[in-house]
This record gives sequence, C-alpha cells and structure tokens, in this order.
Amino acid sequence: EHLALWGGRFTSGPSPELARLSKSTQFDWRLADDDIAGSRAHARALGRAGLLTADELQRMEDALDTLQRRVDDGSFAPIEDDEDEATALERGLIDIAGDELGGKLRAGRSRNDQIACLIRMWLRRHSRVIAGLLLDLVNALIEQSEKAGRTVMPGRTHMQHAQPVLLAHQLMAHAWPLIRDVQRLIDWDKRINASPYGSGALAGNTLGLDPEAVARELGFSRVTDNSIDGTAARDLVAEFAFVAAMTGVDISRLSEEIIIWNTQEFAFVRLDDAYSTGSSIMPQKKNPDIAELARGKSGRLIGDLTGLLATLKGLPTAYARDLQEDKEAVFDQVDTLEVLLPAFTGMVRTMRFGADRLEAEAPTGFALATDIAEWLVKNGVPFRHAHELSGACVKIAEGRGQELWDLTDEDFIDTFAAFLPADKAPGVRQVLSSHGSVDSRNGKGGTAYGRVREQIADAKAQVEEL
Ligand code: ARG
Repeated sequence: EHLALWGGRFTSGPSPELARLSKSTQFDWRLADDDIAGSRAHARALGRAGLLTADELQRMEDALDTLQRRVDDGSFAPIEDDEDEATALERGLIDIAGDELGGKLRAGRSRNDQIACLIRMWLRRHSRVIAGLLLDLVNALIEQSEKAGRTVMPGRTHMQHAQPVLLAHQLMAHAWPLIRDVQRLIDWDKRINASPYGSGALAGNTLGLDPEAVARELGFSRVTDNSIDGTAARDLVAEFAFVAAMTGVDISRLSEEIIIWNTQEFAFVRLDDAYSTGSSIMPQKKNPDIAELARGKSGRLIGDLTGLLATLKGLPTAYARDLQEDKEAVFDQVDTLEVLLPAFTGMVRTMRFGADRLEAEAPTGFALATDIAEWLVKNGVPFRHAHELSGACVKIAEGRGQELWDLTDEDFIDTFAAFLPADKAPGVRQVLSSHGSVDSRNGKGGTAYGRVREQIADAKAQVEEL
C-alpha cells in the first residue's frame, strides 16, 4: 500500500510523472537529523498538551531514537515512493512504532512549518562551520602579513603602478572583507534565530501546543511572530545566500591577484607544490588551480543566490511549492564553500613571496610622483601646481627612459624654478624611496609600518571578539 502523507480525498495515487517531479529526497534527506530532532521536541509538546500519554511519549521517543540510529547506520533511507524527507521519516517511524502511535506525531504540525524550521536549523549549523573556515583564512592572511614585515610592493590602481604600499597592507586589505563576512553571518544569525514550528500550514495550530518550548529545544531563542511569515518567508535563506556569494566574490578577488602575482612576468609569489597542479602535456607547468577554482566557483555561488531570488520574486505570501526550490541553492553554496575554503587557506598559508622582486618593482613606473607633489606642498606650493611640476618630472624621466630618482639636481632646480629657490629643490630626493614614501603615509589606516602593525593588532582583536 502506498504510504503517502495525503490521499484521503484522492481516488488514485500520483502519476509516475508527477511523483518524479515532486520528489525531493535526493537533496532534502540531509535534513533528516534535524527533522528527527524537531519531531522529538514536537512529541514533547504533544505530551505537554495532553495529546500523548506519558507512556506514549516514552514509546515515541524510543522509536525516534531507533529511527535516528537507523538513519545513522544507513539501514533506513528514502525509497522511490517517498515524496520528501518528511514522508520518508514518517514511514520509518510507523515501521518502528506502529500505525497507531506513529500516526499521532503529525498532529498540530505541517510540512510547511516543519521544512521552514529545518532549513533554519541546518543553515545555522553550517554557517558556524563556514565562519570557522573563514576565520582560518583570515588568520592565514594575518600570519602572512606579519611575516611580510617591512616588505614594500607596487600598489596599483587601474592595475597601473600607483604608490608603493607594504605587502602586509595589501594582504590585510583582503582580510577585512572576510572578517566582515563572518560578522555578517553572526548578525544574520540573530535574525534567523526564531523557530517557525507551531505556525502549522499557515494560520497557527489549534491544539494548544507550546511553540516556545519547541523553539528552546531546537536551539532557537524565540518563535516567529507571524505564522504566515514563519512558513512563507525565505528572505533569511536568501540573506545567507548573499553572504555566501559575497564570500565567494571576496575570495575571487584575492584569487585574481594571486594568479597575476604568480605569473612569470610578475613573479611576486610562488605557490607551494602541494597547493598547485601540473599539466598533462607541458612538463614545466605549475598552475594556480585552487585560485582559479575559487574564481570560477564564485560564479556558481552568485548563480545560487540569483536563482533563489528569482524563485521568490512574485510568490504570494504563504506556502507554495516553489519554496521547495530554496534548498538546493544553499546546499550547493555550503558544499562549495566547505570544500573550497580549506584548500584556499592552505594555498594562502604556504605561498612564498619574492621580497626582492616586490621591493625592486615598488618604486618603478613613477610610483613616487605623488610623493614629489606632496613634498612640494609641504614646501608651500599649491597642490594644483605641485601636481603639474611632479608631472613635468615624470615627463622628463619618461622621455629619457629613466626613473624619477635618475633626474639630476639641475632637472629639479629647473622644473621647480618658479616656486622654489635652487638650494631647496634637490631636497626632493629625500622622498624618492619607496620606504620613505610608505612611512610618510602614517595617518590611521595608512600603509606606514607602524599603522599596519596597529591594523594587524586591531584585526586580531576583532577576530578574538567574534
Ligand atoms: N518538501 C516541501 C518543501 O521542501 C515541503 C512539503 C510541503 N508540501 C506541501 N504540499 N505543502 O518545501
């Protein structure tokens, strides 16, 4: 006999085509543990409401324990006829407890409040795993920043040499967004920390159950305020999906830098053998596949978010079956991040920077031109003119195929003549080094060594507080 959760008013079972379409056990079975935990809490609520005797409750809890064991060891699993994880678990419970008792558990709940609760439980647990993995990555970036010491590198805007920066400063620029991603997850948890159990199909339940006790047992600090919202809302699932997508994008931007730094032309960084791959045809190749996969998978994480938002758009506000489509999107994101992040962190932790290359490249491409302009400002030249004068120095150097520090005293004297006395002009040389340039950017958040040390200490303190 077909053991469905519905059927009373039907003269036939579902057509095979419908059954195939409707089926979700292939992806929602991973909610089984949470469903059994929910069922245990719900059974106790039924007991407190007088709908299960003490003896029945005891037998129900025993049966749920047995069911959990069977799920754990794989001796119980969904079969072809089970529509979803809830259908399968009811079948399993009835196998163990019998029709009479097993059939009582469903009173006062609907798969609508049940599934809304389960996705929250599952996501909350995995968000903590992901936050932990993200903090590992943040710590790897902090370690690399500490190891980088005073090493300078070319800071770029538009990918063009802009101003020298500390390598540690550039690395920390990737740590902060990741710290914010963790903060986002923590903040999101405050909103998703409400149990929809008791919302029923949409209107609440008549059986005098205590949703607050159920919520507490399931690790929630409160119950959703509106039973329709409790069953229908997926904004919190979408918010999680945004954070997952944002995390992917943040990692992708770091990946892009690593890929570029790892090219032969840049040679800023070397990846550890254990975190690089080879080529099947070109024996010399050592490829940054982890960074490339991270960059690629960010597209997939974004797709999961946009797919979910598209599903939600235009849904009337109460349960509709469309909502079943929320799960695969976030399951895919979680699976993706839980595999990606450990590999990515390993790559970051073991990469080695070519300090000599970084140092040599840092001041080139006229990266100290701003320092000349600012030195002129300190000597009383209005910035508009200072910018022009420094630009004129660049023009001379570029024309000769030289760098700024190759200019002669006469060049500086002539170029600055309208604004500075000749004995002062050559003094500009004091700012023509990348370390001097970096150290002069000593305001809060700047790239001066002391400020970067301070920044690293702040990051550690913030991580400590999470
Ligand atoms: N499997 C569904 C989901 O994941 C829950 C079942 C609700 N079905 C229903 N006919 N009300 O959203």
